[in-house]
Amino acid sequence: MTAPLAERVREQGAQCATAGSPLMAALLSGAADDLEAGGPTADLLGPLEQDPPGTVPALRFAGALHRLVLERRAPLLATHYPSVGGTAPVERVWPDARDAVVEHLDLLRELVRRPVQTNEVGRSAVLLGGLALLSGDGLPVRLLEVGASAGLNLLADRFALRVDGVVRGSADSPVLLEEPWQGDLPPEVPVDVVERRGCDPQPLDPRTTQGRLTLTSYVWADQRARLERLRGALALAEQTAFEVDPLPGSAFLARELAAPRPGVCTVVWHSVVWQYLSVQERTAVDDVVASAGTRATAEAPLARLTLEPERVGDAEFRFRVTAQTWPGGDSRVLADAEGHGPPVVWRPRG
Ligand SMILES: C[S@@+](CC[C@H](N)C(=O)[O-])C[C@H]1O[C@@H](n2cnc3c(N)ncnc32)[C@H](O)[C@@H]1O
Repeated sequence: MTAPLAERVREQGAQCATAGSPLMAALLSGAADDLEAGGPTADLLGPLEQDPPGTVPALRFAGALHRLVLERRAPLLATHYPSVGGTAPVERVWPDARDAVVEHLDLLRELVRRPVQTNEVGRSAVLLGGLALLSGDGLPVRLLEVGASAGLNLLADRFALRVDGVVRGSADSPVLLEEPWQGDLPPEVPVDVVERRGCDPQPLDPRTTQGRLTLTSYVWADQRARLERLRGALALAEQTAFEVDPLPGSAFLARELAAPRPGVCTVVWHSVVWQYLSVQERTAVDDVVASAGTRATAEAPLARLTLEPERVGDAEFRFRVTAQTWPGGDSRVLADAEGHGPPVVWRPRG
């Protein structure tokens, strides 16, 4: 049975605290109390009580408030938001958030119904390591992303990483992933992405003001490194051609994997997407990939690389990086990571 929404909002706040966002923790704890007490948050979030947990109503609420702040509609609340230069104590954020809920109830009702649309650039720390491991035989990469959102991780090969003090990748990139890796590090090999394409039923356009606003609103406002990475990737998106087709994963992959592509390693990648897919859609994606796997050859290999959460207890998740490769269909866990990517702890390789 699904827990009451107030409990889930509180649990989400606790997860945000663990993930290093005191602002989100304070905001969601205040919202959970107010929801239980029948305050204005109950007017706003009560209608979402039956929404499936995977649609993360708490994060939709936090994103809606952040959007108000970014649009300069809630100046008092903004004083707590580092994303717009706020420095006021997070311990006092809730009363200002509550006032914003009262003042902007109608607009917020519309905003909290929108799905969470993030595009987490830090997850490229997983993708880059996975590509280095999978393309170790020297073939260039054809990258296909399911649930690409704005497509920013399709630009992973244009980012830089600092690993043990040494910069790998594009040294002059506006995106620098600082020491994201631990464990048995992937080899230092050039990753040559010769084709990049993604899909998303609701793609965001990172080249528009609205698209950039939406993407920024779902980043937790006190996580400066994430905001910096997003800003860098948005700047790169202005200069680089790539497509995100407005399609669900199954239709996109059915088209893209219809025939093997010799001379490239085709990598199907998805991160934090699986929970948003219906059971039918998951089965359809699995079937399309498995069927393409039977057609893969040494000259036209296929890999599926994923970063997805796995429930390990009643309230706990861990994020695993897995790869399945064809021909053969071997599966392995490559690494353990966090929801936003780093730190990525690469497992020992045999
Ligand atoms: C949490 S976001 C993750 C976005 C991106 N993968 C990342 O790591 O930044 C989940 C994405 O899955 C997309 N999505 C939902 N249903 C989908 C489907 N059937 N096929 C492909 N993507 C889907 C959503 O639109 C959303 O952009």
